[in-house]
Amino acid sequence: MKHLAGKHIVLGISGGIAAYKSATLIRLLVKAGAEVQVVITPNGKEFITPVTLSALSGKPVICDFFTANTGEWHSHVDIGLWADAMVVAPATASTIGKMANGIADNMLITTYLSAKSPVFVAPAMDLDMMAHPSTERNLATLRADGVHIIEPEVGELASHLVGRGRMEEPENILRVLEDFFTPKTMAGKRVMITAGPTVERIDPVRFVSNFSTGKMGYAIADEAARRGAEVTLISGPVCVKATHSAVKVVDVESARQMLCAAQDAFENCDVAIMAAAVADYAPAEARSSKIKREHEEVSCLTLVKNPDIAATLGRAKVGQKLIGFALETEHGEHGIENAQEKIARKNLDMVVFNSLADAGAGFGTDTNKITLLWADGRCPRECSLKSKADVACDILNAIEELCD
Ligand code: CTP
Repeated sequence: MKHLAGKHIVLGISGGIAAYKSATLIRLLVKAGAEVQVVITPNGKEFITPVTLSALSGKPVICDFFTANTGEWHSHVDIGLWADAMVVAPATASTIGKMANGIADNMLITTYLSAKSPVFVAPAMDLDMMAHPSTERNLATLRADGVHIIEPEVGELASHLVGRGRMEEPENILRVLEDFFTPKTMAGKRVMITAGPTVERIDPVRFVSNFSTGKMGYAIADEAARRGAEVTLISGPVCVKATHSAVKVVDVESARQMLCAAQDAFENCDVAIMAAAVADYAPAEARSSKIKREHEEVSCLTLVKNPDIAATLGRAKVGQKLIGFALETEHGEHGIENAQEKIARKNLDMVVFNSLADAGAGFGTDTNKITLLWADGRCPRECSLKSKADVACDILNAIEELCD
């Protein structure tokens, strides 16, 4: 994901315990390629030191209107204009009140009043302060002024009371910003994605499956949702979770269940991406009770072929774009030939080839190395080893080209 790369973020920090999370937020923003300028309130400095913040952001932290010994003036107007976004995290009740009412008695508030960019506020306070009518009134004023409120979580607070007022986690604040800066190039598109393995029961405690973790399919689902698509993710049993709240997850277990869910969703979709590692075979019969070692001699397991979901959809296709994956164990020409053969056999428009023979590619890794192949005969596109989030961007860029 490169949507935050090069973006200028002003991070306003006010005086609350959650200021310790600002350090992580800066790290995440910098890692995502953003430039961060911290503006802190005098109280904020009591909770986290400017040394930590400037070391992480790589820029001097601004707190005062002037540097005392040199008389250098810090222009809140320039900082406000520099910003592509301003994020106030943590935002205390006091800072929220000052923002809502234009009480410009510190650098953070004057910068806010000068900012032309979108502004995000992540409240952090005790539950009673959060629920107080004055806080609610001030937040309503900020919303009406066009400020984006990143809602606090319910959880344990610094007071050890449990309630609403915990600042949203830095990872989620980053996601809100990434979402905001992602161009909505797939708005109006309905995208169906299969992900993860399928699990074929032998008995209630044993099964036939594969090593798929679902990471690739989930990364595609999150990115498609960020781009504004309506996403249905049909998922086999996995431990990963969709991070984008707009992804609709349909949980299934077996290939047959996945086929039913996929056929349902396919009818009304524009794009179907088959990222699941469907088990090709299932036990002919699933026993209803556990096979006992002492009582039975199981010397062979009879397997039957599962339906080919991609090929079934390929036959039913009426204008949808159908994208398959080909996970091979060979790389180079031979792997590509196998992948190409799947385009014809399953009536795919595009296939994403990846090989277990490439280090960092395939099941369970956070990275992948893919080659894209098309049904219309254009040249294969080989991509370098990247994070699965970045690979998801490459795949969706290619799908957007296909849909043009
Ligand atoms: N696929 C599917 N249903 C199956 C098997 C595969 O929908 N029963 C889909 C996968 O999700 C993938 C594509 O078909 O998008 C290719 O899967 P792959 O396992 O590589 O191909 P197979 O057809 O199973 O062929 P083989 O395993 O022999 O290479």
